[in-house]
Amino acid sequence: MTIDDKKHQEYDDLTQIKYIGGHDYDGIRELDNRLPPFLKYLFYVSIVFATSYLMLVFVFKDDSVIQEKEYQKEMAALQQHNGEEEAAAPAEVKARTKDEMIAAGQVTFEKICSVCHGKFGEGLVGPNMTDEYWIHGGRFEDMKKVVMDGVIEKGMISYKNQLSQRQIDDVLTYIQSLQGTNPPNPKAPQGEKYVPEESAE
Ligand code: HEC
Repeated sequence: MTIDDKKHQEYDDLTQIKYIGGHDYDGIRELDNRLPPFLKYLFYVSIVFATSYLMLVFVFKDDSVIQEKEYQKEMAALQQHNGEEEAAAPAEVKARTKDEMIAAGQVTFEKICSVCHGKFGEGLVGPNMTDEYWIHGGRFEDMKKVVMDGVIEKGMISYKNQLSQRQIDDVLTYIQSLQGTNPPNPKAPQGEKYVPEESAE
């Protein structure tokens, strides 16, 4: 067989594999070998992957594969998170709103103060807490001074070592909430009438 014959041979003598037509380089011809299976299936898988990926990006516009959207989403989440934290801080302070302070204050009042100021603040040994008359002034700070320092000679002791600042604030908030509740058997007014300023709490 001449070289020329070989050139037109369809199958390789040795392997009986078909030559690929036209793939002839300096007499070296390319055989139409089968791809190794792993490479073939990898190729098929890559086709499937590529089409589904393209569908996700261009057809369904899925957020999770579009980086820009993913970025925006994360940034939005971060902003929301920060916003929530900012909002959460005052909310926590707010969470102890009057109602909670009053509720906590009432516990202290009934346990300690009611002995002298009456169960409903109507007054016994100590003055009436529900009327507008105050011996030492009706402002929050005035009452706080009395509770902190006491009026020993009159029987009102200092509570600054017995109660925390918070407990004192709470109990005074409770006392303020008693204004005008008109409990039974009120003690007669003592001291000066106090009219809160509009802006005062
Ligand atoms: C042992 C009796 C007694 C107890 C207990 C007591 N107080 Fe008094 N409190 C008095 C007396 C008496 C006065 C009046 C003082 C005066 O005449 O200056 C007074 C006055 C006050 C005043 C000022 C009232 C005004 O008219 O200016 C406040 C506020 C007050 N007490 C809060 C409290 C709180 C809060 C507690 C509980 C933590 C408490 N007291 C417990 C006897 C008591």
